[in-house]
Amino acid sequence: MDVAQLLRQLDQTEADAAQAVADAKSVNDLEKVRSEYLSKRGPMQQVMKAMGKLGADDRPRVGQRANAVRDAVTAALQQRMAALKQSERGALLEKEAVDITLPGAERQTGSMHPVTQTIEEVTRIFTAMGFSVATGPDIEDDFHNFEALNIPADHPARDMHDTLYLKDSDRLLRTHTSPVQIRVMQSQPPPVAIICPGKVYRHDAVDQTHSPMFHQIEGLLVDRNVTFGHLKGVLEEFIHAFFGPDVPVRFRPSFFPFTEPSAEVDMRLKTRRVIDGKVVEVEDWMEILGCGMVDPKVFEAVGYDSEKWTGFAFGMGADRLTMIRHGINDIRHLFENDVRFLEQF
Ligand code: PHE
Repeated sequence: MDVAQLLRQLDQTEADAAQAVADAKSVNDLEKVRSEYLSKRGPMQQVMKAMGKLGADDRPRVGQRANAVRDAVTAALQQRMAALKQSERGALLEKEAVDITLPGAERQTGSMHPVTQTIEEVTRIFTAMGFSVATGPDIEDDFHNFEALNIPADHPARDMHDTLYLKDSDRLLRTHTSPVQIRVMQSQPPPVAIICPGKVYRHDAVDQTHSPMFHQIEGLLVDRNVTFGHLKGVLEEFIHAFFGPDVPVRFRPSFFPFTEPSAEVDMRLKTRRVIDGKVVEVEDWMEILGCGMVDPKVFEAVGYDSEKWTGFAFGMGADRLTMIRHGINDIRHLFENDVRFLEQF
């Protein structure tokens, strides 16, 4: 090859390398370009070899040009390398970026169910008056749920309780918490002062005020010379502690087979009602519990001497107390467990 050919080859190499550098899309591509044009087997090296055969006069011209091309390619590679590294880092940063303006994902935390809150508060009020807490089984037998409470098989009061019976068995789901009275009296001698919170079951269709499972809190006090006055005092104390000291309370005669005399207790309450499409506040009496003096027949069923011992009992709906207290108009809210409802308490 003569001088002119070599110089042309150098021009070509310079142009090709410049194009390859411009086309490189990554640091990796660029490393390939570098080894292709500047390695020992690259076009530059071929020129250097051929140069050895040139005369001493021509060599410097080609050598200088070769050095200039090498410098130019090296410089182009460096420049492009810096640019590519910069944009690769930029792309990486963009990919890994966190958008701190996005709203955070709030974590749902649980809280105590409003009915549980009611049961705890009622328990606190009665334990402060000297009552202790007793519990009994949800699955009961006829004796404890009915017979011992003076509700024999043919008694019309059984119609008041739509009982759920267990299949192929004489067992049933307790229809009230009163069987716990019987179990406690069977297990200990008087005196007795207990409350029993728990679930009860009735064969009721679900609607605004009915649920096949709901909660009651039973109370029983047995001692010598217990009077209806004691019953009134304890229940008034409870209602004023739970609903407020100024709430009017009234005792209304009623009937339960296991108490005599029996009463229902109402309290006077402001509630909101929708009348003609408008929400109006009305004040009315609301029934909140049943109570009475323990019937001597109940004492006889558990082996207590009814000449010696007297007592009172009461039963109230914990769901109902919760609804009255918070102005909840549908019992289903209490059992559907919608977090948007529950988180308000
Ligand atoms: N057990 C009765 C009921 O479920 C309530 C009650 C309990 C009434 C104790 C009087 C005494 O309706």
